[in-house]
Amino acid sequence: MNDTAFSATEIVKHYGEIEALRGVSVSGVYGQIMGIVGDNGAGKSTFCRILSGAEGPTSGSVEIGGTKMTTFNPREAASAGVGTIYQNIPLALHSSVSDNIFMGQEIVKRPMFFGIHRMDRRLMAVKAKDALAAVGVDVDPRRQARALSGGQRQAVAVARMVLFQQRVVVMDEPTAALSVDNRKRVYDAVHGLASSGACVLMVGHNLPEILAIAHRVVIFRQGRIVADVDAGQASEHQLLQLMSGVKPQEMAR
Ligand SMILES: Nc1ncnc2c1ncn2[C@@H]1O[C@H](COP(=O)(O)OP(=O)(O)OP(=O)(O)O)[C@@H](O)[C@H]1O
Ligand SMILES: [Mg+2]
Repeated sequence: MNDTAFSATEIVKHYGEIEALRGVSVSGVYGQIMGIVGDNGAGKSTFCRILSGAEGPTSGSVEIGGTKMTTFNPREAASAGVGTIYQNIPLALHSSVSDNIFMGQEIVKRPMFFGIHRMDRRLMAVKAKDALAAVGVDVDPRRQARALSGGQRQAVAVARMVLFQQRVVVMDEPTAALSVDNRKRVYDAVHGLASSGACVLMVGHNLPEILAIAHRVVIFRQGRIVADVDAGQASEHQLLQLMSGVKPQEMAR
């Protein structure tokens, strides 16, 4: 069985004079959480945007689940199985959790009168509950989204990934605005997501937390991946060195 969830080959991205990515090659594995770290401006978000089809590379190629991306638009990426979770989740605050999970892909009942379609709220609530349970989130799907904490909102977004079977999930600093408790909620949900078989890319600046949640960490520096380490073997100090490019003896001073 092929367990490669995505592979990016020699990705280069220029913005005018700026070389945001200078030849990035990396692949991800189903069920694996890949931490992505690097200094500000290292190219992490640019890489995430290319993988999620928000923009195309200047050169290089991306395969998702063995299918080569050609047009680089969000629809192409989504149908190939890529889901994206941003820092701020755009929920419809006056709708229920369940309606938010199904937003845009509602389940409709068979039309009874004059071909009028009605949403099957009961079935959606049941499925939403299952998806929330799969990521270990204890939220009533009938609750209004505005009643949720930031962490619960992110967890709802993670549950949506499970429900729609997005197999590559890109998370660009999903916890940057959250409290410690809420960050933990999101990490728990991400564990559930990876256990369901998804390959999760998680960009973050909190190195101890990235080391704790990820199986593997890739380090970006100035538009390149300079290291790819096993999270269980790496230390925060090591990551800092790799991020800055400063040699150990210089760091010690
Ligand atoms: N739309 C854009 N137009 C011009 N330059 C851009 C654009 N997006 C990113 N850049 C530049 O590309 C480089 C990489 O930026 P990117 O946002 O990918 O970094 P990052 O690693 O996500 O940083 P941070 O940790 O601050 O989020 C930076 O020099 C940035 O200024
Ligand atoms: Mg960024």
